[in-house]
Amino acid sequence: MWLFGYGSLIYKADFPYIERRPACIRHWVRRFWQGSHDHRGTPHAPGRVVTLIGEPDAVCIGMAYLVTPAVFAQLDLREKNGYLRFATELELGNGKRADGLVYIATAENAAFLGPAPEAEIARHIAASCGPSGPNRDYLLQLAAALRELDAHDPHVFEVEQ
Ligand code: SIN
Repeated sequence: MWLFGYGSLIYKADFPYIERRPACIRHWVRRFWQGSHDHRGTPHAPGRVVTLIGEPDAVCIGMAYLVTPAVFAQLDLREKNGYLRFATELELGNGKRADGLVYIATAENAAFLGPAPEAEIARHIAASCGPSGPNRDYLLQLAAALRELDAHDPHVFEVEQ
């Protein structure tokens, strides 16, 4: 099965995969609107990590991994803080399309923080740290990974700036 990663799954592939390639999905944008109690923050001081927000005509560039279904047991644990899996169509380049799965944290989950000005998100991230390390590392690694993919993401780059 194909898995689409748009956050830490772009730069931290700590699971076995058969193939990895840049991909995109349509009608979603990446936003630092999800709270992180267990990776980049704590229950008392959650950090901020990305989720996807629906937006007509948007394109979200990320990384697709071809994995066996067994990998999802491991990933369900990693993405347990409010993320659900849903099925969507991926564009894999050269006109190739495939069905895939993506983890998304919707506004209904208890850890969802929602929108805030980019400068406020940046201050929040700068002050947050969790068991997986400083929240700023998540942001900076994501921004670097997006640059490598040639993916222009104004929201992520403004928070980084
Ligand atoms: C993803 O990377 O696809 C999900 C969000 C995250 O783990 O950062």
